[in-house]
Amino acid sequence: MDGNGRWAKARGLPRTAGHERGVEALRRTVEAAGDLGIRYLTVFSFSTENWRRPAAEVNTLFGLLKAYVQRDLSRLKQDGVRVRVIGQREGLPPDIAELVDRAERETAANSKFHLTIAFNYGARNEILRATQAYARAIAAGEVTGELTDAGFEQYLDTKDLPDPDLVIRTSGEFRISNFLLWQAAYAELLFVDVLWPDFNKSHLESAISRYHERERRFGAVTPGAT
Ligand code: IPE
Ligand code: MG
Repeated sequence: MDGNGRWAKARGLPRTAGHERGVEALRRTVEAAGDLGIRYLTVFSFSTENWRRPAAEVNTLFGLLKAYVQRDLSRLKQDGVRVRVIGQREGLPPDIAELVDRAERETAANSKFHLTIAFNYGARNEILRATQAYARAIAAGEVTGELTDAGFEQYLDTKDLPDPDLVIRTSGEFRISNFLLWQAAYAELLFVDVLWPDFNKSHLESAISRYHERERRFGAVTPGAT
């Protein structure tokens, strides 16, 4: 979800105004994704590198996550949405950590739609934490035999989630920026020239049509091409 700051700047508003509008775009997108039959949506909301931003902006982003969960949790629950938050839990302020735990706990039985919020998330950090946990399990004798992709994945924050088919980055930047590096190995990537606060259902529909134009081979060859 990129481009909040530029959206605000273009209007002579503080960056925080862009983040506030970004939350509205998130609400819109969750609803649109559900309408379009998507079952898994993961949004990159705050990265482990975003701590480099001014403290006031970091506080705004934390406050917005808190307000979003507080305001939308009962609605999400009712709508059958299972909420997960991936990223490093350690280092989050205790009130946010508790709220996130609650959102996960209270929606754990839902399965209609899976909303995953990557917050204090960085793929390298996730892979390192998973490696540490995997190594501990091996040392404890809980894991024996060959090390496998599937075995390792059990230690990632996304252990219960399918790999993404499509990764969309808004705002015209052509970077992955440490998002789902392991999981997106074969994802289709789409870079769209829309600032996140402007993102709407028609942008999502067009992203999905572009996804369907792609040919996914997963390293193999097109049947009939040989
Ligand atoms: C995305 O918008 C929000 C977060 C990364 C938290 P930005 O704040 O990165 O907006 P730009 O890139 O400055 O326009
Ligand atoms: Mg940005």
